[in-house]
Amino acid sequence: MADVTRYRPDDRRAVEALYRRVFGHDAAEGSRLRWEWQYRRNPNNPGGEPEIWIAREGTTIVGQYATMPVRLAVANTEVKGSWGMDVMVAPERQRQGLGEVLFRTWDRNVGASLGLGLSDASYRLFQKLRWPDVGPVPCFVKPLSRRAFRHPRWPVAINRLVSALTFPIVLLVSRTRPLRAEVRLVPRFDDSFTELWESLASKFDVAVRRDAAYLNWKFASAPHVRYSVAALVRNGKTAGYAVYRHAHESRGRVTLLVDFLTDPDDETGFKTLLRWVDREAREADSDKIRTFALHAGFRRLLRKSGYFQVKSTMEFVIKVNGTDVTPAFYEDTDRWHVTLGDSDQDR
Ligand SMILES: CC(C)(COP(=O)(O)OP(=O)(O)OC[C@H]1O[C@@H](n2cnc3c(N)ncnc32)[C@H](O)[C@@H]1OP(=O)(O)O)[C@@H](O)C(=O)NCCC(=O)NCCS
Repeated sequence: MADVTRYRPDDRRAVEALYRRVFGHDAAEGSRLRWEWQYRRNPNNPGGEPEIWIAREGTTIVGQYATMPVRLAVANTEVKGSWGMDVMVAPERQRQGLGEVLFRTWDRNVGASLGLGLSDASYRLFQKLRWPDVGPVPCFVKPLSRRAFRHPRWPVAINRLVSALTFPIVLLVSRTRPLRAEVRLVPRFDDSFTELWESLASKFDVAVRRDAAYLNWKFASAPHVRYSVAALVRNGKTAGYAVYRHAHESRGRVTLLVDFLTDPDDETGFKTLLRWVDREAREADSDKIRTFALHAGFRRLLRKSGYFQVKSTMEFVIKVNGTDVTPAFYEDTDRWHVTLGDSDQDR
């Protein structure tokens, strides 16, 4: 059986080669571009040591579990959380129990093991190992143009008909609404964002600690995408933020509202940020805005702001080890804050 031990710097080449075999050339190139940032520069990675477990058979690497350490707020305490991300086993060694050994080693070493947006194989393995399954994280779309409802597999005539039928809805939900607080674009997150997080942490039963160090690493220094950050400012104090970017997809242009934070009870504040993102999306000529939200308060305000809930494929599993939680804890996720900006979903 394989030994599972922590990653060593001289594993890099063999891990890259295995990654290419398992996930293909393009994904491997993407991973190589992000690697230093993702695994070494994470501020929750003391000493810059990547939180990666390697399965070895002699000198051969046959699997890895690469993870993202985060500080996780869980019911008024903080635990050492860890997003499981790039897990892989060499194709000829799959379905022989190695994945299970990797998952269990990771889980034994962290205060909460978390998975988001899983492949079918890893989702099934999480289920087999009985990880609490709380997902998927609901997905919301706000249409902005008549192209918003296009589907690449539908014939042109059907797409035209759907566009015509849905156009009145689009006009209604996408109309410009006034901003009711100050919103500023900021290049980085200063200490006021840490203060904001600390003032709001108790409002969430589960959420990654969104302090300035984490936010700057995640959204201001990512090497693979460029984000815009809008800060909500009230009486000179930071009261929220929205992180977003515009992208081309086969169905048209989309603005992704990747991450956000306000007091979930601050209806005016959150709606103001959403209205700001509407304007930015229209300016970028986007056909729609897409976002993911788990918290019931944010979901309600999204719906009130013209977003429709659509099918989500962003599965979410979590197992808390670092503090006592009852099985009932996993059944009510209304006060949990999880977005597309969590884990490495936006890549
Ligand atoms: C996911 C992965 C790491 C699991 O490793 P593994 O060594 O095959 O897993 P194990 O042998 O310990 O466990 C097998 C269980 O995993 C699940 N599983 C693994 N591969 C599967 C597949 N292709 N289809 C469906 N379920 C699968 C099943 O629950 C399976 O149980 P079963 O054999 O009794 O049906 C491995 O399949 C892999 O590298 N897949 C390709 C990369 C990938 O999808 N990574 C996840 C990214 S989120």
